[in-house]
This record gives sequence, C-alpha cells and structure tokens, in this order.
Amino acid sequence: MRDTDNAISHEDPLALFARWFAEARASEPNDANAMALATATPDGAPSVRMVLLKGHDDRGFVFYTNAHSRKGSEIRTNPQAALLFHWKSLRRQIRIEGPLAEVSAAEADAYFHSRNFVSQVGSAASDQSRALDSRATYLARVEQIAEVCQAAGEVPRPPHWTGFRLAPARIEFWIDRANRLHERRQFNRSGLSGWTSTLLYP
Ligand SMILES: Cc1cc2nc3c(=O)[nH]c(=O)nc-3n(C[C@H](O)[C@H](O)[C@H](O)COP(=O)(O)O)c2cc1C
Repeated sequence: MRDTDNAISHEDPLALFARWFAEARASEPNDANAMALATATPDGAPSVRMVLLKGHDDRGFVFYTNAHSRKGSEIRTNPQAALLFHWKSLRRQIRIEGPLAEVSAAEADAYFHSRNFVSQVGSAASDQSRALDSRATYLARVEQIAEVCQAAGEVPRPPHWTGFRLAPARIEFWIDRANRLHERRQFNRSGLSGWTSTLLYP
C-alpha cells in the first residue's frame, strides 16, 4: 500500500465492522468480542467497563448484563452510551456511539438459556455492583440456587438480567500506519439507512 492510499474503505460501516471483527476473531488470542462500554449519569459523570458483544446487525450492537448494576442504573436515566474495541493484534480501534434500548424478553431469554448452567446460576445469584461481605456468601448463594434449579430443571432468567442494543449514530475506524501517521475515518448516520463519512486528522 502506498502511504497516500486509504487503508480504511468508505463502504457501509456495518459491513466494514463485520469484516474487521472477523479478522479480529482470527487474530486475537482471546475475547475479540470484548469492548469497553461507557455510560454516564444524567449530569454527565462517566463510567466505563468491559462487556462482551453478543450480537450485531443492522439494528445495532448487543451486550447482556444486570440492569440493577451501576451501568444499568446509568442507562435507565441516560441511554446515551459509547463502545470501544481495541484489537492489539491488528493495531485497530473502533469507536461506536448512540442510544441504548433494552432487547426483547424473548431475545434475552434465548441468550440467557444458551449459556451453560453454572453461568446462568451465577448471573441469577449476583447482585451485580452491590457490596458483598465475602466471596463465600456469593458461592453459597450459587450453590443454593443451583440446587433449586437442578430440581426444577431450568434456571429462570431474572427479569433484571437482560440485554441492551446500541443503535449506532456514529462509528469511527482507526488504523495504525507507519511513523504514527495513523488513519481515521468517521461515519455519521444520515437519515434512516444512510451514512456519510469523512477522514479525520489522527
Ligand atoms: C473481558 C470482560 C468481559 C466482560 N463482559 C461482561 C458482560 O458481558 N456483561 C457484564 O455485565 N459484565 C461483564 N464484565 C464485567 C464488567 O466489566 C463489570 O465489572 C460489571 O459488569 C459491573 O459493571 P458496573 O458496576 O459498571 O455495572 C466483563 C469484564 C471483562 C474484563
């Protein structure tokens, strides 16, 4: 590639995301679907943590969590959020911004029950982000719920264990280029299905 050539195409950003994600899955040692999720309180105090991308299509990017967690309470009062992928093996970054909406109960049920038994029980037993006196307390709760659910034959999905979909309004692709003369392209949603894009100074 010549130095003046663009490494980031101006194709549909969702198709470009899918291509880069497939490349990351092939080259990252683990968790290519790990992404930082930034949320904020209504008065703008930010917080950030990692979550796993569990679905992506034209509607957006889906992760699952406990809606009673810190992130859950921020999302409830301020749905604006941002996602960040950084794939070290590829030296690439993707930033995605937009509003979050809860997935349907059917979608959350389907994903919850696709997880292994202990993961389901672990989620049901966790008051995510609340103070815990000892790890033994959590493990005892896991054991107790596992016993009940084993007898019942299933782990009911707690209603507060759910998924959120971020509908992208802006997506930015960054790629490492020689001598830190990096390349960035930002896509902005225009209209319902269209995008405009521009290069940005790195
Ligand atoms: C690689 C990685 C993936 C994670 N994936 C999730 C996830 O998909 N959902 C989730 O609720 N927490 C996940 N966590 C834990 C979160 O980072 C965080 O500790 C937890 O959700 C509580 O965040 P909160 O207190 O800001 O709500 C993950 C952590 C790591 C390091």
